[in-house]
Amino acid sequence: MANSQNAQIVSVGTYVPENVVTNKDLEKIVDTSDEWIFSRSGIRSRHIVPADQQVPASVLGAKAASIAIERAGVTPLDIDGIVCATFTPDSFFPSTACKIQALLGCKNAFAFDISAACAGFVYALTVADGLIKSGKNKTILVIGSEVISKVLDWTDRSTCVLFGDAAGAVVVRASDDPGRGILSTHLTSDGTLGDILTLPSWGEKRTMSMKGNDVFKHAVRMMSDVSLKVLVDAGVALDQLDYLVPHQANIRIIKSIGAHLGLPLSKIITNLEHYGNTSSASIPLALDEAWGKGLIKENTKVLFTALGGGLTVGSVLVNF
Ligand code: ACO
Repeated sequence: MANSQNAQIVSVGTYVPENVVTNKDLEKIVDTSDEWIFSRSGIRSRHIVPADQQVPASVLGAKAASIAIERAGVTPLDIDGIVCATFTPDSFFPSTACKIQALLGCKNAFAFDISAACAGFVYALTVADGLIKSGKNKTILVIGSEVISKVLDWTDRSTCVLFGDAAGAVVVRASDDPGRGILSTHLTSDGTLGDILTLPSWGEKRTMSMKGNDVFKHAVRMMSDVSLKVLVDAGVALDQLDYLVPHQANIRIIKSIGAHLGLPLSKIITNLEHYGNTSSASIPLALDEAWGKGLIKENTKVLFTALGGGLTVGSVLVNF
């Protein structure tokens, strides 16, 4: 079924739980300080599903997705595929994507989850791009949704201060305009580095562990490499790029990538100060803020890049 349709991101929607936890709040739980957290990560506060509430990733994801659907000017029945990236699914099965399908009434869609941790959004977007370019699908909902607070060890100060709960979604549609839409994608993984970021599903310990310094080192190198690759593949020079929207893990990682690529900070979208690291939701969360400020216009070129446990790495270059 060869055809020449491109995949275009036509809208974004996001949702965060109301409950805000500041660094000062965390000082009461673990031996830490606002100064340590902000200077090491750039984070001041995060949104967290309260511990006594069982709000799952599907509910956050459905709220974000319904906003994206409305903004796209389509109906749930127009959606022919749902790809949800999450490492905090409601259950092993049914998938979070199937639950979102049921919540929104997207009766004409297939639905499945992707497990690529913090790189989940760029993995899901790449899958959607391939399905649309193949001619199989016309309108795919790509979602990143995480309730990370449920898988954190709240006595481990080296991890619990860094993360937040959130969901983000985009509607990706087939477009006939060859110069616009997703221009290039690149995914890569290195399973030999799996032990630097882990979340076991069996055994005594079922909370996240991280070798922070190792993650930092690989994150800068690998995200810079895949970003350059998609630019070269698309024939887009660095100075033609309008914005980099990186995975919002840590401001120091993001600044290092900027320095590595030679990209000024004014071209890098960040909002992790108010949300922390929301894993697969972080890129749509930052994109939504940029779009709301009027930064995303016709022919704005945006590069997404992310690294997650696995290790999983990827970049997607879009001409809006
Ligand atoms: N408050 C106060 N002190 C702390 C805290 C805390 N929350 N956490 C750790 N410390 C202490 C450590 O115990 C250590 O104390 P010690 O010297 O007495 O042993 C000291 O601070 C220094 O610890 P380091 O781990 O060396 O601190 P570092 O400056 O490297 O910062 C950090 C740690 C922020 C995790 C850093 O390594 C980092 O940013 N790594 C990237 C990890 C990341 O962003 N992960 C996100 C998930 S992966 C992803 O999304 C890509």
